[in-house]
Amino acid sequence: MKILGIETSCDETAAAVVDEHLHVFSSVVESSIDQHRAFGGVVPELAGRAHVTTIGPVVRRALDDADLDPHHPEIDAIAVTSGPGLIGSLLVGLSAAKAYSLAWGVPFVGVNHLEGHLFAPLLERPDMAWPVVTLLVSGGHSLIVLQSAPGEHRVLGETIDDAAGEAYDKVARWLGLGYPGGPEIDRLAREGSPDALKLPVSMTGDDLDFSFSGLKTAVVRATEKQHDVALRDVAASFQAAVAEQLLRKLRAAMVAHEVKGVALAGGVAANSTLREGVSELAREFGVEVHLPTMAMCTDNAAMIAAAGLYRLGISGPSSLALSALPNWQLADVS
Ligand code: KG4
Ligand code: ZN
Repeated sequence: MKILGIETSCDETAAAVVDEHLHVFSSVVESSIDQHRAFGGVVPELAGRAHVTTIGPVVRRALDDADLDPHHPEIDAIAVTSGPGLIGSLLVGLSAAKAYSLAWGVPFVGVNHLEGHLFAPLLERPDMAWPVVTLLVSGGHSLIVLQSAPGEHRVLGETIDDAAGEAYDKVARWLGLGYPGGPEIDRLAREGSPDALKLPVSMTGDDLDFSFSGLKTAVVRATEKQHDVALRDVAASFQAAVAEQLLRKLRAAMVAHEVKGVALAGGVAANSTLREGVSELAREFGVEVHLPTMAMCTDNAAMIAAAGLYRLGISGPSSLALSALPNWQLADVS
């Protein structure tokens, strides 16, 4: 069985062909990020327009790369991100998926984008041991999720304000660095001193929720007061504070729930401090560690196809009347 995945929830237009053994035949990602850089963030209207021109060619390339006939491809189902995300962007992928579904006479299924991210580590490690606790951190989301099996998940904690990546992007903007800010702050942080700025320790309660908004404000305040702190030291101090909070909560989740593996997912999973910290946690608890490659950390359609395979099995196909859900919570997936 081959499934075509389609992802257009933010600024990446992506299509991929995956089979039931989670073998990835093709995975094509086109980003409109260059159009957004000058604005310091994704401009929804530009993202939506870019998807309209890109979706057809991207799907075509995904079929070509998988050696499938673009007119009569041997595709058995289509999985498409139907939320959460930018409404104008989601609608492009969803409409395309419905059109292909009708044209090829195959079922389609709407997939939650965050559930897609949870499947990314599995694509690179189909034999992983369960249960797994995943730290899912991206530009739009920050969650700790307990998975007892593929498609069976429970949200243990999430951000009460900004997402981790959003905080990186906002601090980077304040520091005059480009967009997206995460990679640049991460690069600078590796050369700086994490003790240069005294930043508050956030969210010290017993819950597994996060907060990054106060940290971002603290960086702004501290750098307003101290003008002579090197950029690399600001970056290192901020990165240490973000990682400390994320890893402290992840550790608490692993104390509270016995797991066989710990995984990172989402764009912020590229972060060097976080990758080291999660590996260390895995060693401490004696469990498997799943650190997806960069291509799997960031938005792609292979993870949507993988999640779609399970959703089709668990919930069956979606109706042609399915609408996009821009605020669809992972906890509401069933
Ligand atoms: O998952 P993603 O590609 O897009 C969504 O938000 O869905 O994540 C992008 C986010 C951006 O906020 C970016 O600044 C952040 O991931 N990011 C990083 C790193 N690389 C990307 N944050 C920290 N360290 C990094 N190395
Ligand atoms: Zn994402």
